[in-house]
Amino acid sequence: MSPTQRDISEEIAREHEAYAHAGSVQHHPDRGYAPYRSSLLRHPKQPLVAVQDPEAVELSGPAFGVTDVTELDSDLTRRHAGEPLGERIVVTGRVLDRAGRPVRGQLVEIWQANASGRYAHQRDQHPAPLDPNFTGAGRCLTDDRGGYRFTTVKPGAYPWRNHTNAWRPAHIHFSLFGTAFTQRLVTQMYFPGDPLLAYDPILQSVTDDAARARLVADYDHDLSVPERSLGYHWDIVLDGPAATWIEEGR
Ligand SMILES: [Fe+2]
Repeated sequence: MSPTQRDISEEIAREHEAYAHAGSVQHHPDRGYAPYRSSLLRHPKQPLVAVQDPEAVELSGPAFGVTDVTELDSDLTRRHAGEPLGERIVVTGRVLDRAGRPVRGQLVEIWQANASGRYAHQRDQHPAPLDPNFTGAGRCLTDDRGGYRFTTVKPGAYPWRNHTNAWRPAHIHFSLFGTAFTQRLVTQMYFPGDPLLAYDPILQSVTDDAARARLVADYDHDLSVPERSLGYHWDIVLDGPAATWIEEGR
């Protein structure tokens, strides 16, 4: 029988208690975090195999150049003939290293559900409407201050089948490319005040309270554009004690 939200919430509470008592600092979620059921099935069970020539992967891996990324790529509301439905927002922040120095020229990619909580992807078949004017993918390069900026719509919450009546809080997936595909980091940004944050085993797999709080953007009224959009601010720190937690570890 599928576990209930109450079952999952109790498991989450036990995991957080165990982390608090362990007294050691973690820097990424457990690969096999039980409340997030499918994480147990996904990760390698054997130690990773060291490759002889790590650079060989670059010959067949994805690559990009500055000329590939255009201004239009960072505005997810202007990718189709019409305007997407939903609450228009700007999401902006800086990519920083452990010393707070800007990480320039970094490829930042995002993907997200539409305002109804539906991905434009064939695997997402839940009964929420698709938006013909919203695909939900964008990218940009960080500027000299390490800054990135996207215009999009606020994604909706969506159901998933981790347990009975499981709902993901609104979130935007982020990828940072690094200087080679093997350095790519992937994480998720959340929205402040979302009542679903406490119920989500993916966010809660970040067992450190402060690290979890760092995955939630700040609402910033100064970023709002009159008659047009609201704004959120979210910085990404690549390593060090204030690092942004990422999926799969570094
Ligand atoms: Fe998602």
